[in-house]
Amino acid sequence: MDESPLKTKQMKKKIAIIEGDGIGPEVTRQAIKVLDAIARQYNHAFEYTYCLMGAVAIDKTGEPLPDKTIEVCLESDAILFGAIGHPKYDNDPSAKVRPEQGLLKLRKSLQLFANIRPVTTYATLSHLSPLKAKNIEGVDFVIFRELTGGIYFGKKELNEEKTLASDDCVYTREEIERITHLAFQYAQTRKKKLTLVDKANVLETSRLWRKVVQEVAGQYADVKVDFLFVDNAAMQIILNPKQFDVILTENMFGDIISDEASVITGSLGLLPSASIGKGSSLFEPIHGSYPQAAGKDIANPLGSILSAAMLLDHFDMKEEAVLVRQAVEWTLQHGFVTRDIDPMNCYSTTTVGDLIHDFIENRAASDVNKNNIVLSKSTII
Ligand code: IPM
Ligand code: MG
Repeated sequence: MDESPLKTKQMKKKIAIIEGDGIGPEVTRQAIKVLDAIARQYNHAFEYTYCLMGAVAIDKTGEPLPDKTIEVCLESDAILFGAIGHPKYDNDPSAKVRPEQGLLKLRKSLQLFANIRPVTTYATLSHLSPLKAKNIEGVDFVIFRELTGGIYFGKKELNEEKTLASDDCVYTREEIERITHLAFQYAQTRKKKLTLVDKANVLETSRLWRKVVQEVAGQYADVKVDFLFVDNAAMQIILNPKQFDVILTENMFGDIISDEASVITGSLGLLPSASIGKGSSLFEPIHGSYPQAAGKDIANPLGSILSAAMLLDHFDMKEEAVLVRQAVEWTLQHGFVTRDIDPMNCYSTTTVGDLIHDFIENRAASDVNKNNIVLSKSTII
């Protein structure tokens, strides 16, 4: 018989941890703290295996993605990833090995073809948005970005004289179909609206996307479909973000519009993402490695913690995921935030992680007195 006081099924899961570069390790540590609190509350067992990827992997092994990391990821039920990138590679276009190659290779090796980026707004953060509060109130949409095809993975060429370069953009019908089905199925659980973002007035690949999406739409008659050219979509996300529910798009357009969409919520530091495919799925905050903040205990851990919530959803631990999200909202409501959210009155990365951990363990927000934790406020303003 189930001995747990809570009525969910106890589970044992293997999680690969890739801390990565910059602030990756410190934000991931907070997410693990939160997962540990969940494991204790619900009697789950999470077994973590740490592996290398990114600049840190290049430093230690010469490669951005060692084979061992792929092996561990393939054997895991999920992967929690921090961030990738180091400034020493960014301004050196001739660098042969780059940290980002690690992430791209991992996406390909694990066939993580769908990247899901929810754009959620929080009333407490509306003053941080570059948009007027009335325009972002209630904004809640999700971007489905194709992640293993398109210009990112097409043939890349540079002529001998180094005067001509090209990147091919290639999509197959099958690549488009599989993510399109996922996006429609997801739209069915939400407001039942799907917007394909493409550039079908110019690109052949976009015309194939449009054709396939129109065909697949026939199987999801309850979902309303519309189509936007990417330049218009970039404008609409700023002018009227409330119109969106599920946005479906190809790899590079998705990369660009998801960064654009993320800032309208007020802080890039808050947004999580899931990359799912045929085997194990990967969860990561959408922010980068923020090297200027690395090691200072000032980065916002909420993107990573909310990615852990998506990971729990993926394990079908719905109640657990809700609890993590409640804990995050509680910290926002009480002003227990890092300095990207409130530069005058901020707490450290570790303290925010501890508070969320404690909320989950105590499940009693009202017991936590703001005055008692004032001492662990960040001293770096
Ligand atoms: C992202 C990032 C990556 C991408 C980089 C780090 C390769 O910007 O996940 O959005 O372009 O896909
Ligand atoms: Mg990006």
